[in-house]
Amino acid sequence: MDDERVDSCSFSCPHDVHTVHLSLKLRVHFETHVVHGVVRLSLLAVRDTPSVVLDTKGLQIKTVTASNGPASFSVRPAHAALGSALEITLSSALKRDDTVEVKIEYETSPSALALQWLTPEQTAGKKFPYLFSQCQAIHCRCMVPCQDTPSVKSTYDAQVSVPNGMVALMSAIRDGSDPDPDDALRTVFKFKQPVLIPSYLLALVVGALESRKIGPRSYVWSEKDMVDKAAFEFAETEKILQVAESLVGKYVWCSYDLLILPPSFPYGGMENPCITFVTPTLIAGDRSLAGVVAHEIAHSWTGNLVTNNNWEHFWLNEGHTMYLERLICGKMLGEPLRQLEAIEGWNRLKDSVKVFGEQNPLTNLIPNLDGIDPDDAFSSVPYEKGFGLLLHLEQLLGGQEVFVGFVKSYIDKFAYQSVTSEDWKNHLYEYFKDKNHLLENVDWKGWFYSPGMPPVQPKYDTSLADACLKLVDQWIKAGDENLHAFGPADLKDMHSFQVIYFLSELLQAQEEQTPPPFSLKHVQMMQQAYNLNDVTNYEIRFRWLCLCLQAKWENAIPLALRMVTEQGRMKYIRPLYRYRKNG
Ligand code: BES
Ligand code: ZN
Repeated sequence: MDDERVDSCSFSCPHDVHTVHLSLKLRVHFETHVVHGVVRLSLLAVRDTPSVVLDTKGLQIKTVTASNGPASFSVRPAHAALGSALEITLSSALKRDDTVEVKIEYETSPSALALQWLTPEQTAGKKFPYLFSQCQAIHCRCMVPCQDTPSVKSTYDAQVSVPNGMVALMSAIRDGSDPDPDDALRTVFKFKQPVLIPSYLLALVVGALESRKIGPRSYVWSEKDMVDKAAFEFAETEKILQVAESLVGKYVWCSYDLLILPPSFPYGGMENPCITFVTPTLIAGDRSLAGVVAHEIAHSWTGNLVTNNNWEHFWLNEGHTMYLERLICGKMLGEPLRQLEAIEGWNRLKDSVKVFGEQNPLTNLIPNLDGIDPDDAFSSVPYEKGFGLLLHLEQLLGGQEVFVGFVKSYIDKFAYQSVTSEDWKNHLYEYFKDKNHLLENVDWKGWFYSPGMPPVQPKYDTSLADACLKLVDQWIKAGDENLHAFGPADLKDMHSFQVIYFLSELLQAQEEQTPPPFSLKHVQMMQQAYNLNDVTNYEIRFRWLCLCLQAKWENAIPLALRMVTEQGRMKYIRPLYRYRKNG
């Protein structure tokens, strides 16, 4: 039946059954790095079927029972990335529209990829251990046996037992806590997620967490040492939510909290419903975090309400979210800044195409993921090629106002569902009925299914970029004898985003031109002029260190080593390590 698989990254059979609700009981064991779980899956048969197949990875399945009589189960041999299918045979076959509850008792593996366990020494407070999950794209199956495919959406409730003194949070609404009836040394935290979510949005964190209220529907959570600073830094959250609502409609998830994770969190942000997870590298004191928060807030609509049907259509999540993120940025900081971010995004797309290779099919907007681990396909392509397509369409179809109207209607039409690029495109043609002649000029094959850079580049307003390009040009053209003419005044009137763009253009020139225009002397003099070694903004620091390593400045090595060890954001770590490989 493989030919009809809707998701090549899942063994579960969404053609047979759909999980409508998931009820979880978890006991978190820090001594053994194991979670003991009991999950009750409420399943609805989509057609007649004698069995149910779920995704698992590294799970030890102890018992399986079903509400319609005795059930037997077998765990199929493991696939390295996808894990093991758990096949449950029911005593009586399901007829279409039948419902059944399957209850599974299991244990997670200490090496589960979804879960990061930290010792007390690895935390800021040093007293309690810490646990956080990261399920996107296909790691939920390491935490719970489930239909681990974004084509299936369910509600959930959960009870999580943790040692007294610790707090558990999930991607759901907090529903109180009680002493654990089975163990006086433990507390049970309860949660409810009444909105349909795909499995990858299941999330759990356990730690010595504190919170501060930062808005009418928002708390910020972190270890004690950071919480006041974080409350200050994320003070604009409600404003961002309101701008997003003004663009795409009501926020349906009730609360919007933020969790600041320990430095090893591998992403900038993760849009877990009701509680976005973010890296602590955002707290650098210059408000550059607004972009990430705007991005994760935007996912509340694009991704969490309207979800990619499988990981080949990941650009629907990330491309639309980049588009909304930048609209929010434009509304809050001005259209020229949105334009600058768009230009910088194009550079990032060039970087990814270069790293993957311009013929690499993984640089297609819609890649074929048969036999491919979505983690290995991850890049800026779905983000920036996706964004580029949407900006191109915005320009083709009548501008921002007009195109936001489409994005809103796409969200309204597909809310609570999962969609493919074809669903999206059909709706585009339907929405712009009177502009189909313009759409016929779009090179869909080129955008969707060709590797490398897109067939057309959108046009940009370069008013903020120009000053940066001028400075880039001056640096590149300056001979050794002119280098002392540069000084702090060059950057004084620039927005931090312009500094980021300035460095990104320099890096690009360095990559593209032979010989690279920037010499060792150049970076040394740039340090003297701008003292970038002391900048705390990670986006600036990261690009600056790349430039230094490109130019083989040895003084930058300890700084780069510090950057890759003091935090774990893959966006920074991977490129920095690549310089090591290249010598
Ligand atoms: N959902 C992503 C993170 C993600 C993607 C995790 C795929 C696992 C698999 C999140 O919304 C994201 O895009 N984060 C970005 C930040 C953003 C401002 C572009 C990141 O982590 O860099
Ligand atoms: Zn995202």
